[in-house]
Amino acid sequence: MADEHRHQHVPWKAAGRASERHVDPDSVVRDTGWVFNNATGDQLTLEQFVDSGEQEVGAYLQYFGFDPTENEKSSLVEIGSGIGRMTASFTRRFASVVACDLDASFLDRCRETVKSFGAPERLSTSHVSDGRSLALDSESADVVFSYITLQHCNPEDALHLTSEAFRVVKPGGRVVLNYRTWIGRDVVLFPAGVITRVLWRVPFFGTWLSRQRWSTRLGWQANRLSPRAVVRHLVQNGIKVSTPQLWFRTGHRRVASKGGVSGFSIRTFEGIDPSHWWLIARRPD
Ligand SMILES: C[S@@+](CC[C@H](N)C(=O)[O-])C[C@H]1O[C@@H](n2cnc3c(N)ncnc32)[C@H](O)[C@@H]1O
Repeated sequence: MADEHRHQHVPWKAAGRASERHVDPDSVVRDTGWVFNNATGDQLTLEQFVDSGEQEVGAYLQYFGFDPTENEKSSLVEIGSGIGRMTASFTRRFASVVACDLDASFLDRCRETVKSFGAPERLSTSHVSDGRSLALDSESADVVFSYITLQHCNPEDALHLTSEAFRVVKPGGRVVLNYRTWIGRDVVLFPAGVITRVLWRVPFFGTWLSRQRWSTRLGWQANRLSPRAVVRHLVQNGIKVSTPQLWFRTGHRRVASKGGVSGFSIRTFEGIDPSHWWLIARRPD
């Protein structure tokens, strides 16, 4: 796949190129898996990688109140599937799954992952070629889900994908989106991230730098979106929601401040990263 078709940040491009190089799926995970689940090691296997997705999918679906029997009859769209860490689990739980990603090579790998560890007959893939639009019919999915993806897009693209999620979900269906917002350490992390992303563009040095795990951890969060900013976007674009919930880490001060948003029910789960929050809402019938 030509690099000019990769609009995402440099570490994803590097991982996309690397994922094309390997024939053996375990080698793909050893070389690129850390960009998805932060795990490193020369003994890693695709099976362990997929198991980390299975654990997270199971926990989130349970805490977010999904009914396993209902899931078996439902269709799910996953925005930012990567190489299928969570997708394999989704295909075992939902009647049909559309995996969407900006990187077409990741989608190739995602199909292989699901073939080995999921239910491939339930999977289709969709390339997010412009990084902001889903090539899917309106009102076509029961659930639209996204995890650790919207934080890696430009803020405008993340908000556009939010609108897309509500376009694609059926009336009465559920949108489950994960965002990254501001934390105290961003006083240092935010400027360091800006500098890192500039350095990634330096010829040769930038390519090397983008393959260093510490540099990606500094630079790959391309936006911080607060609950207030996302809710404002919904209102400004006339997107109506029903039973809206904001989910935060248990005990975080955002719980007390309700994320600065009124009219949304506030829920907590200790498994949520302190810098993350989730928007969960239904599209009105
Ligand atoms: C941290 S990975 C998460 C993958 C998966 N959700 C998981 O937890 O393993 C982020 C994924 O988002 C994809 N991505 C980044 N920007 C995107 C965009 N604008 N549209 C769709 N996918 C995007 C990347 O290619 C990458 O596969």
